[in-house]
Amino acid sequence: ISLQSYHTFSLPSGCESLIVIEDPKELVQLNYDQAFFLLGEGSNTIFLEDYAGVVIKLATSGVNIEARDDHYLIRAAAGENWHQLVLTLLEQGIGGLENLALIPGTVGAAPVQNIGAYGVEVSQYITAVTGFDITQGHFTTLSSTECQFGYRDSVFKHRLKDKFIITEVTFALPICWQPKLSYGPLQNLSGAATAKDVCDAVIAIRNSKLPDPCKLANAGSFFKNPIVDKAFAVQLQSMFPDMPVFKVDENSVKLAAGWLIDKAGLKGCQRGTIRVYEQQALVLVHEGGSSGADLKQLVSHIQRTVWQKFAVKLEHEVRLIAKQGECQLQSVEC
Ligand code: EPU
Repeated sequence: ISLQSYHTFSLPSGCESLIVIEDPKELVQLNYDQAFFLLGEGSNTIFLEDYAGVVIKLATSGVNIEARDDHYLIRAAAGENWHQLVLTLLEQGIGGLENLALIPGTVGAAPVQNIGAYGVEVSQYITAVTGFDITQGHFTTLSSTECQFGYRDSVFKHRLKDKFIITEVTFALPICWQPKLSYGPLQNLSGAATAKDVCDAVIAIRNSKLPDPCKLANAGSFFKNPIVDKAFAVQLQSMFPDMPVFKVDENSVKLAAGWLIDKAGLKGCQRGTIRVYEQQALVLVHEGGSSGADLKQLVSHIQRTVWQKFAVKLEHEVRLIAKQGECQLQSVEC
């Protein structure tokens, strides 16, 4: 079965079989002894070649909204489209998720990589994640703390990887909504901005920098913004005074991978028809007709060039799936 149309980077690839889940109860019957990969809309996953296993695609639906004392409690099915959920809530006058508008993918994928943009991470609003625990053989609910959220990270990428199938995410959104305008370009909005205004601004910024996966194949930010020692960043800044640095804690800072790739002169750099996007160097785009081998060559060239110029290792944040399952393309050795 071809997976080319099941992931937004659209490389030629396939799998042994594809199971589409429309009712969470179907998860109880599946055989988990065989190799399997869980897929939402495939906007943060790239199949590099044919995958020797079963792909389980979550396509469940349903959104439930309850007003509580000071917040709305939202329960959304894993297969719901993320951006559609943001819009549905806004239409009902419920703000909170607007900074995360237009992020591709499903609701169920949102907690896995703790999606974030424009000063907000989804973990700030998630109160619980429900799913099928494969080891235990039953459905269970994790609290936000149990999800161990971090920057583009959660327990679902570690201890519960391939052991937990998210079926529903619960959010608490404050009834007394406040705009979050800390991120650079949003600072131009006035404090009187409505949630809809913030949503429109986020959509305009994203459209100006990020390619629409329906028009040009891509998987969003390809690399994570690297977290490095503060002392090391200070050294780098003495050589590159315009380098952006974001505080993480007392000892560490986050660098902008897009800036590093851009500054290394890699915008437009290409292997086959895959290239570093001109408007945002953190994104790789695919014009069609290329293979996983082309992508691996480009990734390794970018990692090597950035390492040679800045001594910073770039890790990809997109999940890469090869024949035997998920793989990590290592940054070159020192
Ligand atoms: N920059 C450049 N050249 C570039 C790209 C960026 O100089 O080609 C500079 C920018 O000028 C800015 C800094 O790098 O000073 C950071 O860039 P930007 O604000 O565009 O955000 P980012 O760090 O590149 C992250 C997320 C995005 C998210 C934006 C906005 C990651 C891996 N990416 O990108 O998330 O939309 O911030 O909050 O954290 C995604 O995960 O798929 C994604 C798009």
